[in-house]
Amino acid sequence: MKIKIAVVVAATVLTNIWGLQEGTPLEKSIKNGKLIYEELCISCHMGNGKGMGSMIPPLAQSDYLKKFPNESIAAVKFGQKGKIVVNGVEYNGMMPNPGLSNEEIADVMNYIQNSWGNVNKKMVTVKMVEGIKKP
Ligand code: HEC
Repeated sequence: MKIKIAVVVAATVLTNIWGLQEGTPLEKSIKNGKLIYEELCISCHMGNGKGMGSMIPPLAQSDYLKKFPNESIAAVKFGQKGKIVVNGVEYNGMMPNPGLSNEEIADVMNYIQNSWGNVNKKMVTVKMVEGIKKP
């Protein structure tokens, strides 16, 4: 009897721990996106997402990211050059194409849209990324 209870308790505890580690699809995507960001984006957009002066626009609190989600996905999918205005500052630089798969683009988008005070619970999906055409 005691053994039975112990088994049930252990199973419940294990299921809970496993459940917590799994997370929601958005949480999983954000976690993968963080690794991609730290590998490929951090050298320019920095660890705090604030970019670099007049050279690199911020992602933290970026009005561009909020107002133009499709253009932001396009920037990550194809690279970005030419004039853009982010938080009232004009940038006219060049971001090389990071060369990511659609799934990796969705992950890194979910990460930047939910970091440094940014909040966007509307998950970017692989399907959405697939639909973004070269501007
Ligand atoms: C070599 C430096 C560099 C790297 C690496 C880089 N970016 Fe950029 N990024 C830029 C520049 C410069 C711009 C603005 C380009 C322009 O002026 O048209 C930009 C623009 C953007 C924008 C749109 C503007 C904004 O601030 O909201 C997003 C979103 C973005 N980058 C995300 C990323 C992500 C995600 C990665 C990693 C996968 C990344 N960038 C890697 C330099 C870089």
